[in-house]
Amino acid sequence: MNNVTLSIENEVAVVTIDRPKSLNALNSETLAELGEVFSDIEKRKDVKVLILTGSGEKAFVAGADISEMVNASPAEGRTMALLAAESFAKLENMPQVTIAAVNGFALGGGCEISMACDIRVASENAKFGQPECGLGILPGFGGTQRLPRLVGKGRAKELIFTCDMIDAQEAYRIGLANKVVPQAELLDYCKKMAAKIISNGSYAVSLAKAAINTGLDTDLASGLKFEADAFGLSFSTYDKKEGMTAFLEKRKEKNFKDF
Ligand code: CAA
Repeated sequence: MNNVTLSIENEVAVVTIDRPKSLNALNSETLAELGEVFSDIEKRKDVKVLILTGSGEKAFVAGADISEMVNASPAEGRTMALLAAESFAKLENMPQVTIAAVNGFALGGGCEISMACDIRVASENAKFGQPECGLGILPGFGGTQRLPRLVGKGRAKELIFTCDMIDAQEAYRIGLANKVVPQAELLDYCKKMAAKIISNGSYAVSLAKAAINTGLDTDLASGLKFEADAFGLSFSTYDKKEGMTAFLEKRKEKNFKDF
């Protein structure tokens, strides 16, 4: 891989987008590499949480690669958007929990890939925005769909139409960032959050993730039906017996087996 690195430790995969000279901008090669890494991780049993970040201290991802797009045809633009849609869908729907460690600029495709993650933790210097309309295009890696789902229609429209860049605190205020931490503590904070998630029943967490994602894409009655089915399924697991028995025995340590 030329533009993406992967390291795995303590059941946590850290995926780093590594094109610092162009502020980790997403070209087609990087999108394809991310798709490969996500396909690999979604099948792995030794990874429970994925942390996605950018290399360097300035940028998470400064967007899709403008130098690749400048001469691209409409068909090529569409192909790029479909490539991103496929790769981001894997990220969004993998059974593992995904955390974006937003370590700087998260603009255009950068904001969009962070929104395909379950949770966004921002460093104090992070900046979010959808500057596409200022380039004569519109968000094409999911921004018109995921941003309104996260922050509401009015705020999403304002951000997309004005191309305003917002800082980490404002992103936190509107619900785009879950938490803001100093940059030096960002990865450690995300790893601690990952450890907390991993200490719970991982199969239950992945069922909860599937229920939330499915429910947000459907009507309430269908979402509640999915939840009831998943809830019932969780009663068949070793972890349900262990978690509830530990509670009744007033035992803090739980020996979850993730099934
Ligand atoms: N694509 C390609 N190259 C990029 C890039 C991008 N999205 N963002 C930054 N770079 C490159 C710059 O061209 C520059 O390269 P050179 O050193 O070769 O000149 C290098 O990264 C450093 O950038 P700057 O000199 O501009 O750094 P700065 O500190 O002055 O500004 C910035 C930082 C505000 C993030 C600015 O780089 C910027 O505005 N970048 C573009 C942001 C943007 O418009 N993103 C949206 C892209 S479109 C999109 O993403 C579509 C979609 O929906 C998928």
